[in-house]
Amino acid sequence: MEYRHLGRSGLKISELAYGNWITHGSQVEEDAARACVAAALDEGITTFDTADAYAGTKAEEVLGRALHGVRRESLEIFTKVFWPTGAGQNDRGLSRKHIMESAHASLRRLQTDYVDLYQAHRYDHETPLEETMRAFDDLVRQGKVLYVGVSEWRAEEIAAALKIAEDMGFDRIVSNQPQYNMIWRVIESEVVPLCEKEGIGQVVFSPIGQGVLTGKYLPGAAPPAGSRATDESGGATFISRFMKDDLLTRVQELKPVADEAGLTLAQLAVAWTLQNPNVSAAIIGATRPEQVRDNAGAAGVRLDPALMRRIDDILGPEIVSDPVHTASPPSRP
Ligand SMILES: NC(=O)c1ccc[n+]([C@@H]2O[C@H](COP(=O)([O-])OP(=O)(O)OC[C@H]3O[C@@H](n4cnc5c(N)ncnc54)[C@H](OP(=O)(O)O)[C@@H]3O)[C@@H](O)[C@H]2O)c1
Repeated sequence: MEYRHLGRSGLKISELAYGNWITHGSQVEEDAARACVAAALDEGITTFDTADAYAGTKAEEVLGRALHGVRRESLEIFTKVFWPTGAGQNDRGLSRKHIMESAHASLRRLQTDYVDLYQAHRYDHETPLEETMRAFDDLVRQGKVLYVGVSEWRAEEIAAALKIAEDMGFDRIVSNQPQYNMIWRVIESEVVPLCEKEGIGQVVFSPIGQGVLTGKYLPGAAPPAGSRATDESGGATFISRFMKDDLLTRVQELKPVADEAGLTLAQLAVAWTLQNPNVSAAIIGATRPEQVRDNAGAAGVRLDPALMRRIDDILGPEIVSDPVHTASPPSRP
């Protein structure tokens, strides 16, 4: 494993992080969840990402149990706040009330006194940004949160948060968590240039397009049993955007490129995200430990520019780059 700074901060994190969206507390049983966490630790992964709302709050509990007993100083635990954690009108968003209540609930579920990174899971158009930034800063001053970040914020939203932090003397955000992979490159034109200048690192999600970039989904064929595309508890809906024959055909054409590089397709996909110097880590998901081991093989891989160009040529029109696709809900969910 190799380790990178989280943005310009002093915190080092593993360049592959393990995340538990859709899986822990939902798609996979607790034994499989624990086996994946154990495999991640074996591979040198020290950074774990979850969120208050995953699996209706159960994902944090599963991760807390799986990491119980591991030396806390050897881990970087990331969680988030924004999406609903309950039915109440204040069980969502980025108000001071919900941030404070949700942060404390996350600490209890994760069985820890502090989280290393606390992330605003989306931009909340119903809360003044200053209120959110002050609540985050209070958590930092209380030692319950060591660093703060955001997820899927637009460049102008990140810039506004930086300005408030500077004007008010609040802790500034060190990271953004966007979707980023060979197909989905919407951060490259606006978010990345701003973040490079401001020392904000990208902790990217879905580096293998939820499994699509492993090549296991074949055009015109039913998805393999037990895969996310068959997960009726939610996974199938989330992955559906990528389950198109034209895209699946082009992914199959990447196979010889991966072979030549001595990589599996999953490793090629994860390594591709790590070539961007603004990326601090790629968060991989997994339903079984073999997947964690496969994906961990992307650590430290360097891809030469000619190979990167071949990937662009093969994926061609399937690549999505328009920054308009970075958006938070217009009102609270
Ligand atoms: N901030 C946000 O809004 C946001 C949104 C999404 C995700 N995230 C974070 O990013 C993490 C990763 O997201 P993701 O799960 O979409 O990432 P991903 O790594 O692109 O996809 C993971 C899924 O692909 C399949 N897979 C993984 N490795 C494989 C391999 N080697 N061979 C075959 N199949 C493999 C597994 O699903 P199956 O076995 O079921 O097919 C696995 O659960 C999440 O857990 C979460 O922490 C954040």
